[in-house]
Amino acid sequence: MPWSDLWRRRAGAEDREPAAGAPPAPLEIARAYHRVSKHHTHRYADGPGWLDWANQPAPFRTWLGAPRVALQVPSSDGAARYDEVLRGAAREPSAPSAALASELCFDSLAVTAWKQAGDARWALRANPSSGNLHPTELYLALGPEWGLADEPALWHYAPREHALERLATCTRESWRRAFDGCAPGSALLVPTSIPWREAWKYGLRAWRYCQHDLGHALAALGLAAHAQGWRVDELAEAELAPLTVAAGWPARGPERELPDLALVLAPGASSRAQPRLAELEWRAGGARPNELSAEHVDWEAIDALEEALARAPRASAERAEHAPALVLASSPCTRSFRAVARTRRSAVDMDGRTALARAAFERMLAAALPHAAHPAFAALAPPPRAHLLLFVHRVDGLAPGLYFCARRSGAAGDLRARCRPEFEWARVDAPSGIELYRLHAGDMRGVAAALSCQQALAGNGAFSAGMLCELEAGFASLGARAYPRLFRECGALGQVLYLEAEAAGVRATGIGCFFDDGVHALLGMRDEAWQSLYHFAVGAAIDDARLTTLPAYPTPEGAAD
Ligand SMILES: Cc1cc2nc3c(=O)[nH]c(=O)nc-3n(C[C@H](O)[C@H](O)[C@H](O)COP(=O)(O)O)c2cc1C
Repeated sequence: MPWSDLWRRRAGAEDREPAAGAPPAPLEIARAYHRVSKHHTHRYADGPGWLDWANQPAPFRTWLGAPRVALQVPSSDGAARYDEVLRGAAREPSAPSAALASELCFDSLAVTAWKQAGDARWALRANPSSGNLHPTELYLALGPEWGLADEPALWHYAPREHALERLATCTRESWRRAFDGCAPGSALLVPTSIPWREAWKYGLRAWRYCQHDLGHALAALGLAAHAQGWRVDELAEAELAPLTVAAGWPARGPERELPDLALVLAPGASSRAQPRLAELEWRAGGARPNELSAEHVDWEAIDALEEALARAPRASAERAEHAPALVLASSPCTRSFRAVARTRRSAVDMDGRTALARAAFERMLAAALPHAAHPAFAALAPPPRAHLLLFVHRVDGLAPGLYFCARRSGAAGDLRARCRPEFEWARVDAPSGIELYRLHAGDMRGVAAALSCQQALAGNGAFSAGMLCELEAGFASLGARAYPRLFRECGALGQVLYLEAEAAGVRATGIGCFFDDGVHALLGMRDEAWQSLYHFAVGAAIDDARLTTLPAYPTPEGAAD
């Protein structure tokens, strides 16, 4: 669908056709994409209509011709306790080394198990992904002090083998210039997305899922870094074109792989110096990416959005500070961060019975609040714009009903003015820092499941959530670039809920399929200022006993390419 068709299919009455020949402004393309990628009860967003199994994209990227270094598989239990990591407690940074690179990847994006049903075998990873299709890849630019090569080099993380593939090297002199002033050992992490992996199954809506998945990966990386005493920060204004050439990421075509952002990885909590990427002099290694599918379907609306975001002006970062860190109630979980992160799994359904203790529910909400020292949100500049519309079904001591939890002070007032007047907005007594309101008391199980594309798990858990985002406020301050950022924030928030559920002995599931405007109609909202961008369910899982579980490493014989 070219952008001109995208434009024609917009539903808004205020639409004006752009001048002939001139592409619409990036912000207008973002708004148009948002509308056409909505699911409605009467019509799903355009998808392929059927699953072309013969062309299912390969789940693992391999760089043909790249020298590969196997990472040693770490022990199954890490030193850092889960609760310490979530609290952002200070840790002595580990020294840069191949072992540290291994632990960072192992706790964030590595394979955690293989599942088998009949002849089919597939990998699960520490980070979740819509449809388990994993559009996110990770690249690491590491200096010689990491002990992987004599020169600074750009590496691709290969999760199936738990290995690094070397794609390019960089002169020592230019590396020194670029990192002058940064803490010793500082490095770069560059996540990329391959939209085709998601588009193969989900069509037009796939771009949203790539951004959700990236948000999950950003939180996973921030937390894994913190478990080693390191931190990640977004590198503002990063110009990634030279890195694209050096790495060999296909910039165009159906299997294009797009760098999303660059993160600075630095030891300790204090250093915020940012490397100057323009100084780096790369020498490409000439490796070639594996082909993911023989045939493709093009989703031109996604191309149009990517093109619009690439030309969108960079608005200067918002002048906002994160809220001060709040005192998080202890989690009863005494497991290591690694154990929790690597046993995280999505529930396929929930049992429709088990209730969550009120304290566990409040702890989850508190853990999901952003603050300056929160490792999961370290790569997402404030202000937070994603909030939780909660469908509470089974939480001890809390009446079932519809609730709202604000993640930024002042947000509730703005939302309230846009919602139906009959809502209660009764402030719920909760530990300090948690701004929770009851909008309506009543049984929301059927409504929650119906809004989540009739998925039963949204009504069968302890609670489910719609992540309500301040879309127009984001556009007003960051322009079109706010659009991917909001989905990433939702993904990062979801990652915290996944881990908190795991730590509390229950499970969670990200829900990308929901009827967007059904949620907005429930609230009585009349414009697009606030939009629900991601759904989530938390509760006691029903496991699928038909599946066999195999260990992650060494890779089992005959595992998928
Ligand atoms: C962005 C996103 C959207 C998802 N949407 C759904 C959904 O609508 N329904 C569902 O049952 N699972 C959904 N999932 C869960 C994935 O299917 C799950 O993450 C994937 O199968 C991998 O399994 P794992 O999470 O256990 O590693 C979603 C996950 C993500 C990250």
